[in-house]
Amino acid sequence: MSTINLLRPFVLVSCWFILQCTLLSAQLDYRFYDETCPSLTRIVRSGVRSAISNDTRMAASLLRLHFHDCIVNGCDGSILLDDTNTMKGEKGANPNKNSLRGFEVVDSIKTDVEKACPSTVSCTDILALAAREAVFLSGGPCYPLPMGRRDGLTASEAAANQDIPSPFEPLDNITAKFTSKGLEKKDVVVLSGAHTIGFAQCFTFKSRLFDFDGTGKPDSSLDASLLDNLQQTCPNQPDSNTNLAPLDRLTKNRFDNLYYTNLVNNSGVLQSDQALMGHNDTASMVVNYSKYPFLFYRDFGVSMVKLGNLGVVTGQNGEIRKNCRVVN
Ligand code: HEM
Ligand SMILES: *[C@@H]1O[C@H](CO)[C@@H](O)[C@H](O)[C@H]1NC(C)=O
Ligand SMILES: *[C@@H]1O[C@H](CO)[C@@H](O)[C@H](O)[C@H]1NC(C)=O
Ligand SMILES: *[C@@H]1O[C@H](CO)[C@@H](O)[C@H](O)[C@H]1NC(C)=O
Ligand SMILES: *[C@@H]1O[C@H](CO)[C@@H](O)[C@H](O)[C@H]1NC(C)=O
Ligand SMILES: *[C@@H]1O[C@H](CO)[C@@H](O)[C@H](O)[C@H]1NC(C)=O
Repeated sequence: MSTINLLRPFVLVSCWFILQCTLLSAQLDYRFYDETCPSLTRIVRSGVRSAISNDTRMAASLLRLHFHDCIVNGCDGSILLDDTNTMKGEKGANPNKNSLRGFEVVDSIKTDVEKACPSTVSCTDILALAAREAVFLSGGPCYPLPMGRRDGLTASEAAANQDIPSPFEPLDNITAKFTSKGLEKKDVVVLSGAHTIGFAQCFTFKSRLFDFDGTGKPDSSLDASLLDNLQQTCPNQPDSNTNLAPLDRLTKNRFDNLYYTNLVNNSGVLQSDQALMGHNDTASMVVNYSKYPFLFYRDFGVSMVKLGNLGVVTGQNGEIRKNCRVVN
C-alpha cells in the first residue's frame, strides 16, 4: 500500500503528460477544451477525489453512470436528465432505478466547472472525464480521452430498458447488445473488467445461491467459499434483496485485474460475469487478462475510448446544458 502511495505523485504527473498528446479520434478532440476550459481536468479530478474520499464506492458508481449514458442512444448525457411531464427519462428504467448513484456528484462538479468556464463544457463530457478520473484514482490506468461531446435533448426510459445488458441474460445476448452499438465481443470482456470495483445488490445474483435454474441446488460454477460468503450476505428471504456484495471481494475498491483472477477461480459474482468463462474465445481473453495486468490496463483504455465515442453529438447539434438534470 505505502509503495503505491509513494508512487502516486509520479503517476499523477505521467497521467497529466499523457493528456498532452494529440492523437486523432473520429469526431472528438484530445485538446477540445485546452483554450476554452484549461482547468477542466483539474476541477473534475478534485471533485471526484473528494467524492471518493467521502464514499469509496463513488468511483464505481461514476464509472457505471458513464456506461449507462453511452450504451443508450450514445454518450449524450441522457442518463442525467430528470423526468418531465412529457418525458419518462432513463433514471426510472429497470436497470437504473434504485441502483444508479452519483448524480449529486456530477451536479456538484458541474457547478464548479460552470464557475470556471460558463456554458462551455457538456454534462456528458464531465461524466466521461469523471469516469476516467475514477478509474485512475482507484489505481487503474489513465487513458487519454478525447472530448467535445455535446448534450442531447431527450432521454428514453424504453431505450434504457431495452439496451442496458442484464445480468440474467446469456452472454450471446449481452454481446449482441454491444455489437449492435458498434462495440465488439472483446469490448464485452474488457469493459466487464470494470466490475473490479463496486458492489451488487443481492437480487442481481441471488438466483445462483439456493435454487439455481430449478435444480434445488446452488450454481455449480460458483466457488464454495464465495458461495458461503454470499449466502451469508444474502439469506434466502426477500428482505435481503438490497444487501450489497462486492463484485471483486479480493480488492473491492481497487481497480486491478483481479476481476479476471476471480473468474478463473469460479468467483464471478454475477452470472453474466462468470459466463465469460463459459465460451472458449472469451475465456482465453479472461485468462490472458488475469496473467497480464498491463495488457488489461492498455485494452481497458482503448475500449473506454470506444465506449466514449458511441453516438456522440457534436458540432452544432445538441447543446451545452447549464443544469445536467434539465435541457436548457
Ligand atoms: C457486460 C454487461 C454488464 C452487466 C450485465 C452488468 C450488470 C451490472 C449489475 C447487475 C450491477 C449491480 C447493480 C446493482 O446492484 O444495483 C453492476 C454494477 C456495476 N457495473 Fe456493470 N454490468 C455490465 C457491464 C458494465 C460495464 C461495461 C461497466 C463500465 C465500463 C460496468 C460498471 C459497473 C460498476 C462500476 C458497477 C458497480 C457500481 C456501484 O457500486 O455503484 N458494468 N453491473
Ligand atoms: C458522503 O457520502 C454519503 C454516502 O455514503 C452521502 O450520504 C453524503 O451525502 C456524502 N457527503 C458529501 C459531502 O458528499
Ligand atoms: C436472448 O435473445 C434471444 C434472441 O433475441 C431472445 O429470444 C431471448 O429471449 C433472449 N434471452 C433473454 C434471457 O433475454
Ligand atoms: C485462484 O486459484 C488458484 C488455483 O486454484 C490458486 O492458486 C490461487 O491462489 C487463486 N487465486 C486467488 C487470488 O484466490
Ligand atoms: C473449447 O475448448 C475445449 C477444451 O479445450 C474443447 O474441448 C472444445 O472443443 C472447444 N470448443 C470450441 C467450440 O472450440
Ligand atoms: C493475449 O495477449 C497477447 C498479447 O500479450 C495477444 O497477442 C493475444 O492475442 C492475446 N490472446 C487472447 C486470446 O486474447
